[in-house]
Amino acid sequence: MQANRELIVEPVGLDVDKLVRPINWTELFGNSNPVELEIGFGKGTFLVEQAKLRPEINFFGLEYARFYWRYASDRLRRNGCLNVRTVRAEAGYFLGEFVPDASLSVLHIYFPDPWPKKRHHKRRLIQEKFVPVIHRILAPAGRIQIVTDHAGYFEQIEPVIRNSGLKVVDYNRPGSAADGEYVGTNFERKYRHEGRPFYAIAATKG
Ligand SMILES: C[S@@+](CC[C@H](N)C(=O)[O-])C[C@H]1O[C@@H](n2cnc3c(N)ncnc32)[C@H](O)[C@@H]1O
Repeated sequence: MQANRELIVEPVGLDVDKLVRPINWTELFGNSNPVELEIGFGKGTFLVEQAKLRPEINFFGLEYARFYWRYASDRLRRNGCLNVRTVRAEAGYFLGEFVPDASLSVLHIYFPDPWPKKRHHKRRLIQEKFVPVIHRILAPAGRIQIVTDHAGYFEQIEPVIRNSGLKVVDYNRPGSAADGEYVGTNFERKYRHEGRPFYAIAATKG
């Protein structure tokens, strides 16, 4: 994993402790383009590909694993993706403390940690208590997109989203997804070779 190469996070990676609360997206990006936020971007493939394809969108990424945050922020910088900013932060904390009401056009969650053991299910991101958060942060016509490879987690996700008061809509394959892919993240590309099934759901606020 190129551990020897120096990773430079700036100007994409931001220090969460230096951000104002709530964030003013227009000030942060220097424009008033729509903001799409990805939770748990891992190596950042979705952000790199989407940022290049859609320069008219501001992308913001959350990742709590320090190495992946640094790796992806450096990768985004090297690829000239200056319509992206990232922070190393836990999603529940960051969304609650920093993300203004009705300010996101899309919330992307791809291959969230499934926490497969029953005693760990309470750690799953997408559960009933997450619904008010989604309602609060999505813009009036905002959308959430979720993909997982974990059937058990999807059995939980699907009713949570269907009973959320959001309108379930067709899942939108991002333009950067290759043929047959749902989204084209590292996890999807790794597990597709194993023939794993994937599960996707999307919903809108308006
Ligand atoms: C299974 S990996 C998927 C990474 C990437 N989305 C992909 O599909 O290749 C899940 C990622 O989400 C991050 N993550 C999990 N829970 C998180 C949370 N509550 N806040 C921020 N990041 C989180 C993990 O550190 C990990 O990098």
